[in-house]
Amino acid sequence: MALTVPSRPVCLASVGDVVPERIRWAVETLAVEPGDRLLEIGGGPGVAASLVCEQLKRGRLLLIDRSATAIERTRRRNPEHVTSGRLALETVDAADFDPGEARFDKVFAVNVNLFWTTHATEEFARIRRALAHDAGLFLFYETPTPAGARQAAGRVAEALQANGFAKPQMRSRSATLIGFVSHPA
Ligand SMILES: C[S@@+](CC[C@H](N)C(=O)[O-])C[C@H]1O[C@@H](n2cnc3c(N)ncnc32)[C@H](O)[C@@H]1O
Repeated sequence: MALTVPSRPVCLASVGDVVPERIRWAVETLAVEPGDRLLEIGGGPGVAASLVCEQLKRGRLLLIDRSATAIERTRRRNPEHVTSGRLALETVDAADFDPGEARFDKVFAVNVNLFWTTHATEEFARIRRALAHDAGLFLFYETPTPAGARQAAGRVAEALQANGFAKPQMRSRSATLIGFVSHPA
C-alpha cells in the first residue's frame, strides 16, 4: 500500500558532465573496491555508474532501471564501461528483479522513492536474496527541505527493519542529503 508523502526527493537531471553533489557523495560513501560486485537500483541516466566503474578493475556493476529510456541514456553515457563488461544494464522493475546466481557486495540506490514512499516488501526481499555474505545496502536521498529529510529518515529506517534489515547507520552530508547503510539482520 502506498503511503502519503508530502515532499519527495529531488530528481535533478545531470547537465552535461556536471555530477550532482548527491551522486558524488553517494559514490564516496560506497568506498568502492576494485573487485566489488555492485548493483545499482534506479541508476539511470548512469551518472553514478560512471564514477563507480572508473574505480573498478575486476569488479562489476549491474545497473537496473524500470525505464527503458533511462537505461538507454545510461548506455550512451558509458559506452566504454559497457564495452569493457564492467557495466551491465537491465530494464526491469526492482520488484521483478531476479538476481539468479549473482551475488553483490554492495547494493545502492540514489533518490529512488519507492524505499520511503512504499513498504517495498517485494523489492527488499529481492535485494536480500541478491546480497552476498557481509554485503551492504546503501540508500541515499536528497530532499527539497530538511523536514523532508527527517521524514525520509524515519520512514526508510522503519521500512528497512520491517523487511529483515538491521537498524541502519545514518549518514548525512547536509540537512537535505542523507544516507542509510544497512545489511540483512
Ligand atoms: C528520481 S530518479 C533518480 C535517478 C538517479 N539515481 C539520480 O539520483 O539522479 C529515479 C530513477 O529510479 C527509477 N525507478 C523508480 N522506481 C523504480 C523501480 N521500482 N524499479 C526500478 N527502477 C525504478 C526511475 O526510472 C528513475 O530512473
